[in-house]
Amino acid sequence: MKYKSEIEKRRTFAIISHPDAGKTTLTEKFLLFGGAIQTAGAVKSNKIRKHATSDFMEIERQRGISVATSVMSFEYKNMLINLLDTPGHKDFAEDTYRTLTAVDSVILVIDSVNGVEEQTRKLTSVCRMRDTPVIVFINKMDRDGKNRFELLEEIEKELNLKLHPMTWPINSGKDFKGVYNLHDKNLILFTANTHAPDEDVVKIGDLASPVLDEKLGEKDATLLKEDVELVDGVYGPLNTEEYLQGKIAPVFFGSAINNFGVREMLDSFIQIAPVPQCRPTTEGEVCPGDEKLSGFVFKIHANLDPRHRDRIAFIRVCSGRFERNKYFHHVRLNKEVRFSNPYTFLAREKDVIEEAYPGDVVGLFDTGNFKIGDTLTEGKNFYFTGIPSFSPEIFKEVVNKDPMKTKQLEKGLLQLTDEGVAQLFTQFGGNKKIIGCVGELQFEVIQYRLLHEYSASVQFNNLPFFKACWLTSSNHKKLAEFARFKQNNIAEDKDGQMVYLAQSEWFLNTEISNNPDIIFHYTSEIHK
Ligand code: G4P
Repeated sequence: MKYKSEIEKRRTFAIISHPDAGKTTLTEKFLLFGGAIQTAGAVKSNKIRKHATSDFMEIERQRGISVATSVMSFEYKNMLINLLDTPGHKDFAEDTYRTLTAVDSVILVIDSVNGVEEQTRKLTSVCRMRDTPVIVFINKMDRDGKNRFELLEEIEKELNLKLHPMTWPINSGKDFKGVYNLHDKNLILFTANTHAPDEDVVKIGDLASPVLDEKLGEKDATLLKEDVELVDGVYGPLNTEEYLQGKIAPVFFGSAINNFGVREMLDSFIQIAPVPQCRPTTEGEVCPGDEKLSGFVFKIHANLDPRHRDRIAFIRVCSGRFERNKYFHHVRLNKEVRFSNPYTFLAREKDVIEEAYPGDVVGLFDTGNFKIGDTLTEGKNFYFTGIPSFSPEIFKEVVNKDPMKTKQLEKGLLQLTDEGVAQLFTQFGGNKKIIGCVGELQFEVIQYRLLHEYSASVQFNNLPFFKACWLTSSNHKKLAEFARFKQNNIAEDKDGQMVYLAQSEWFLNTEISNNPDIIFHYTSEIHK
């Protein structure tokens, strides 16, 4: 009974956005509402500041601080909310993609002035791959933003996402007066208020009520009535099932910095957001109701500080009860392992925990036993599937500058890529090692870590590729022929899967259309 109620009170999600849309600010307001922090500004250290974009050590220093905030758990109205942090910096996008495999839903923050931006597109497409339920928060309504109808249209079109407004804004910028809650039929009046999480809520009941004119003035009241009539006519009530299937995204308007519109969203979130969900494995679906423990590693954080060179593997509990000091089965290593100091993350504090439930994320001290996608169970041998590797965007050849350290280099490359820092490929017919990353910063990280942790000195040579596609075909002869013919563009990933490295979109499309027998995959599953 306790087991079931523990699961039902958990909601595990991530906030995603293009940098600067307001993810950090919104996170902070959630923690304020949840009573997990008392003052605004407490989460700021988690943000990679703009001036540090070309200095990875500074970024790592800040990421070091942010380990504790990789997961923020707080209680709100008897719910236990696990908010998984995703790095805002685009060079760490792969980290974000993987974190999305460990959540049950997301909140997408969009800047009302800038609309849909590059990272918004990428992150939403990752959510769409898994049909993750999305709630949209349109932020910065206190600034002169795009026209509300045009903005919704832009989001729907660009993100291929059907929207459902839950609140409706009354103007924007200096004329922003607040939002009308289409569901509760309340008017929430805007006051610039960066500290106290309170709002001025006026019950309206009927839009014909004279209170509306009194509060908004005749002009804005009329406009709101017209808007609401239109919106109600188009959208009707929210179909929660469609939201849970990832088909419809409820939308809230607000201003995170002013604590405005945040409570409405959080209140709806705890009502509609999914409880911990079942997940696919190599042996069929595993559901939270199964009382035997299972979970998978979705992130490994290595501390670069030479004084504390620790690694933390983050495991998402999918079923059963995780217990401190209990032996669990490490499927890949076929080994029983136990953890004396598993961490949970309450706001900014790391706390040793005794137990954890489905939906929770536990941090495990790791000395190199874990890699991304590893599974823990209570004896069964299966892997969670649906944890993809995404194509890198930058490729470089690894040049060993110290042949005496070849062994160390190989070990270092394998371990760092197990952690998910980058992907490693070996060129076909040779042994040229190729590193693929999403951002330039990772190359600096790899170079630094190879030298400091493995005494291996490397240099990188740029390669003219922009994408890796994993190749499969039922026609083995055709595939082998293609590989021979395109030797310079063919490599193997760490698991021996064949990959085509494309110089440009044009080349890729040409090869796709010239080779109908071969399937070009944009992602690769760690376990199938
Ligand atoms: P991010 O994590 O998505 O990158 O964004 P973050 O919350 O750090 O917000 C980016 C900038 O936008 C910050 O200003 C923040 O104060 C501001 N901001 C967030 N929400 C709102 C809002 O509702 N209205 C307005 N007008 N601004 C908002 P900054 O100057 O870059 O940083 P800071 O000096 O305020 O820390």
